[in-house]
Amino acid sequence: VIKSPRGTRDILPSEWTGWERLLRCAEQVAERAGYQRIETPTFEFASLFRHATGEHTDVNREMYVFTDRGGDELTLRPEGTAPVFRAYSEHGMRVLPQPVKLYYLGSMFRYERPQSGRSREHHQFGCEAIGSEDPLLDASMIDLQRRFYASSGITATTIHINSIGDSACRPGYVRELVAYLHRNADRLCGDCRERIERNPLRVLDCKNPACQSVLNEAPKSLDYLCDECREHWERVSAGLRALEIRVEVDARLVRGLDYYTRTVWEFHPPGVQGSQSVLGGGGRYDALAAAIGAPEVPGVGFSTGLERVLLNLPARPETSVAATDVYVAHLGDEAALQALRLAHILLESQLRVQMTFGSRSLKTQLRYAGAAGAALAVLIGEDEIRDGVVTVRDLRTRDQRRVDLAGATREIITQLHQRGSNAP
Ligand code: HAM
Repeated sequence: VIKSPRGTRDILPSEWTGWERLLRCAEQVAERAGYQRIETPTFEFASLFRHATGEHTDVNREMYVFTDRGGDELTLRPEGTAPVFRAYSEHGMRVLPQPVKLYYLGSMFRYERPQSGRSREHHQFGCEAIGSEDPLLDASMIDLQRRFYASSGITATTIHINSIGDSACRPGYVRELVAYLHRNADRLCGDCRERIERNPLRVLDCKNPACQSVLNEAPKSLDYLCDECREHWERVSAGLRALEIRVEVDARLVRGLDYYTRTVWEFHPPGVQGSQSVLGGGGRYDALAAAIGAPEVPGVGFSTGLERVLLNLPARPETSVAATDVYVAHLGDEAALQALRLAHILLESQLRVQMTFGSRSLKTQLRYAGAAGAALAVLIGEDEIRDGVVTVRDLRTRDQRRVDLAGATREIITQLHQRGSNAP
């Protein structure tokens, strides 16, 4: 038997209620703040992410890259920021009032080792504001992300925040960091030692207990900020204070993507530690434009894995019933055709209708009708066919009445209205 590929999963009807709630919540939170929906393609040129997220990053190594029949090197998108930024440049959104505020909901793909909260296809909600350097936008972005969690039911998140500087001050900081890491290399794990030259900032991310004391004492980017970056950082902090948002300054927070400059942050759920527990993260990416060869534009945004949000929500009773007004039951070949026609007519009248497919006993069909949550059942048997009528049965009171086929739709709508349904 063929199963779904490792690291992917089906969202079953019983889970869909929860998903739908979350999607609505994301749309509302984003749209109330003036963000507009954007959908970018599921695949892009691989070079977009190579340049945007960086050559030596996990995200780049984990990409699903393939060559299509035309010889183009494409990839399933591993994240949403680079594509949204590409769309901003490609469609001349610079001429719009800035910042342009966009949000997205969709699948992302990373070839990771699957575990709880980490899969090879995951779903993200993300917001990006492109075209403004205002540090208060960073603060308002953090507030937007916080509001999404709060309105989806996760309060008491912890926000970790840091500034990693920009192209003016980061090289100086990285030099100091690399020198420090080399001096202490014998107290670091193999992974860390390997990363010192390739991606020194990521060394700070290491979770290996043996490395913690060295990394906790490492030089901090905040101590190396240039004047502009320091001013930016202080204004972001002032914005967060004005919003009464408490944050934890985390000198070791660097995030895994090369496009970030200045502010970076992550949200942790209440009571959990470790990187897999991160609900979502974001930051400023003023260097992204240059990385992909576009004219310079600043931007800031966040995204969050929806699976991780669902993992942190209290379990809710599962509901898997598609709401139904009328269930059409039938006995006999001719009755089945009549049922097919009647279900069609009722559906055309905007009712929610189901019928039986295959032959089942009347008892079974009524059980299906009950399970579907229908208020009314329509019964069509040989007698009904002979007399040109249908039997309409109230599934709660079990009252039933025969009505002319021609008047059946009107009768059904009337009966539904009497039961307080909002049928048309
Ligand atoms: P990221 O931290 O790579 O950032 O991913 C954002 C979120 O996506 C994570 O915090 C997590 O919730 C979820 N996520 C990532 N990988 C997986 C996975 N394998 N399985 C389940 N969930 C996952 C970005 O992608 C940036 N584009 C965020 C951003 C937007 N920065 C600025 N704007």
